[in-house]
Amino acid sequence: MGPIGVFDSGYGGLTVLKEIINELPGYDYIYLGDNARAPYGNRGFDTIHAYTLECVQKLFDMGCPLVIVACNTASAKALRTIQQKDLPRIAPDNRVLGVIRPTSEMVGTLTQTGEVGILATNGTVSSESYPLEIHKFFPHVKTYQLACPMWVPLIENNEHESEGADYFVKEYLDKILSVASDIDTLVLGCTHYPLLMKKIRQFLPGGINVVSQGKIVAHSLKDYLKRHPEMETRLSKQQQQQFYTTDDPAIFDKMAEIFFGKMVSSKKMLTK
Ligand code: DGL
Repeated sequence: MGPIGVFDSGYGGLTVLKEIINELPGYDYIYLGDNARAPYGNRGFDTIHAYTLECVQKLFDMGCPLVIVACNTASAKALRTIQQKDLPRIAPDNRVLGVIRPTSEMVGTLTQTGEVGILATNGTVSSESYPLEIHKFFPHVKTYQLACPMWVPLIENNEHESEGADYFVKEYLDKILSVASDIDTLVLGCTHYPLLMKKIRQFLPGGINVVSQGKIVAHSLKDYLKRHPEMETRLSKQQQQQFYTTDDPAIFDKMAEIFFGKMVSSKKMLTK
C-alpha cells in the first residue's frame, strides 16, 4: 500500500493537489515539484520526457502505485510515452494519469457557442494535445489556442498580483479574443494559471466561463478509483501529506503556501 503521487514542474500542481485532497481526504499523498528545473514550458520533448520520467520513478521508489502528472506541459509531452513505453518496462502494475484528458472530456459540455479557447505554455500548445483530445470527445467544438509564456515566470516569481502583471494578462487575453471573438469557454491549460484568476476575470469580458482544472481532475480521479478497485485497494489511507522539491525546501515552503493555501514543510529530493 502506498500514497498517491502528485507531480508538477514546480508549484502549479499544488492547485490540483488542494482540490484532490478536498475531494478525497482519506488518502496519503506525496507531492513532488521539480523546481530546480522549472519552468518546463519552453523545453523540448526529450528534456521534458527525461525529467518527468525521473520524477515519476522517484515517486514509484517512494511507494506510490499511482502518480498524477499535475502539469499540462508534462502531460502533453511525456505522458503518452511514459504510459505506453516506459511503464510496461519499469512498473507494469503502477499507473500514471494526466490532466489534459479529464479537462478535455469536460469542456465540450460547458460551451454554448461551440468555441473554446485554451491558454497554456508553449510546450502544451505546440503538442496540439488539447485540440486533439477535445475533438475526440466533441468533434463539433472549435478550439483556439494561445501560448502565454510570460505567465508562469510571473507566478513563480510571486508577481502575479502586482500591477506589472496586468500588462501580460491583458496582452494574452486581448490576443486570443481578437482571433476568437465567439469563445464562451476559456480553459486555463496550465496548473499555474489559477493564481491569475482574479486578474483574468478583471480583463475578460463578462459571459466567458473560465475553467481551471483542479476540481475537474479531482472528480475524474474519484471516478477512476471507483472504476479501478484493484488500484484503490493499493492506496494507503492515513491522511498523511508529504512534500518534496528538487530545489531549496525553504524557498518551496514560502511559495507553496500561495498555491496550496496552507503552510507546508518540504524536503529536498535529489535529481541527476
Ligand atoms: N504547471 C505547468 C503546466 O501545467 C507549467 C509550468 C512550466 O512551464 O513548467 O503546464
